[in-house]
Amino acid sequence: MNKGKILIVDDDKNLLELMKMRLESARYEVSTALVEEDAIYKARKQVFDIAIVDMQLIYMDGITLMEQLHLINPDMPVIILTAYGTIESAVKSMSKGAYSYLTKPFDAHGLLLQIEKALEKRKLTSEINRLKGLLTDKYDFSNIITRSKKMQEVFGQVLRIAKTGSTVYIHGDSGTGKELIAKAIHLLSDRKDNTFVDINCAALPETLLESELFGHEKGAFTGAIKTKEGLFTQGDQGTIFLDEIGDMPLSIQAKLLRVLQERRFYPVGGKEPVEVDARLIVATNKDLEDEVKNGRFREDLFFRIHVIPIYLPPLRERKEDIPPLAEHFRKIYAGSMKKKIKGFTPQAMQILMMQDWPGNVRQLQNTIEYAVAMSQEDFITEDLLPHQKEISDYELKPMKKAKADFEKSYIIHLMEMTRGNVSQAARLAGKYRADFYNLLKKYDLKPGDFKKK
Ligand SMILES: Nc1ncnc2c1ncn2[C@@H]1O[C@H](COP(=O)(O)OP(=O)(O)OP(=O)(O)O)[C@@H](O)[C@H]1O
Ligand SMILES: [Mg+2]
Repeated sequence: MNKGKILIVDDDKNLLELMKMRLESARYEVSTALVEEDAIYKARKQVFDIAIVDMQLIYMDGITLMEQLHLINPDMPVIILTAYGTIESAVKSMSKGAYSYLTKPFDAHGLLLQIEKALEKRKLTSEINRLKGLLTDKYDFSNIITRSKKMQEVFGQVLRIAKTGSTVYIHGDSGTGKELIAKAIHLLSDRKDNTFVDINCAALPETLLESELFGHEKGAFTGAIKTKEGLFTQGDQGTIFLDEIGDMPLSIQAKLLRVLQERRFYPVGGKEPVEVDARLIVATNKDLEDEVKNGRFREDLFFRIHVIPIYLPPLRERKEDIPPLAEHFRKIYAGSMKKKIKGFTPQAMQILMMQDWPGNVRQLQNTIEYAVAMSQEDFITEDLLPHQKEISDYELKPMKKAKADFEKSYIIHLMEMTRGNVSQAARLAGKYRADFYNLLKKYDLKPGDFKKK
């Protein structure tokens, strides 16, 4: 694996070759250009992590080229090479946005150091951009779609607890929106301007997980070639989201417990403790109480993290969320795929309402993405949707429950079709208005929620 892609531009062919060799032996991927034109061409074709540009080029000066490269890739740090004694132009290059400069002749060690620092900075910039994106579009609280009473209650809970700083324990099936809620809590808290770090405890083997979380000292284990900061350090003053905590190995559970008790920790191989003030949010789709009983999860840790539990119900228990979610995803994908799709046919919506959605909101999202991609009409038709839920494989449940489930879906469907017009919906159902109102109440449905905004 290479450590980064570097573009070097210099009119001195020998120097170019020499630097390429040096950097390649330090495990960088290097492209070179003798003339400006070639550098611009290469920068358009691929994204470089860093560019090293000589001040004195054939057709233009290094600063002009740097500005052109920045038009293509604004975040790319540029290191300028200057001749001995031209400190003025070096300063000028810095004011025009160069990351740093090196005076010729320079030694390989100095160059490598500058590159490493510049790469750090680039990582930071992309992290900042990622966080900005996180704040503005995707995870804005207003982008969490819901109509169901159960989810409204979750929202109420989130609003009440966001500012407290207590540990939050989010549980619910896969795809129910646990990560979304975790981010919303962070953004609603006083820590919102600091980092939100998330880590999936199931995705990494034991040793890597430990060093990801707590960092390590240089030489702590084979492969630890330099000291590394852990996520707990990065999340200081911010929020740390431990996803799938049910999959955390027992040895690390013990370490985590100590961090929560003492508010400080030791990096792998480290002797000095690191103080940390971070809000912890954990999520799991496992039944952790079960895991505790089976000895796979520490009971003391369970009680430590089970401070504010938030339960996200599966989509099949809040079917009234299906139409607005489907509409939400339809708009998103129609927009990004530049297709003029206006909605769903009533039959298509009916199919969506009938499914049990074992993969919950994520599965619905994927289904809509597929349908939007395939659709050639103004409205999404039923043939583009999976019919996994035919009568034949209907999960057997008590008749009373089956009837109630059907009744609720049926009413939601009517309310969707009439856009919340109760008289019209009652007429279609062949019911008296008052009786229909009682049914709405029975299933916690509000006509106002179905009016198109
Ligand atoms: N109420 C909602 N409104 C809008 N989008 C939602 C909602 N709930 C979930 N999503 C979307 O569904 C997808 C799955 O959500 P998320 O990743 O938060 O689920 P999860 O519970 O963490 O799942 P897993 O257990 O599989 O990690 C995401 O793309 C998310 O944006
Ligand atoms: Mg998740």
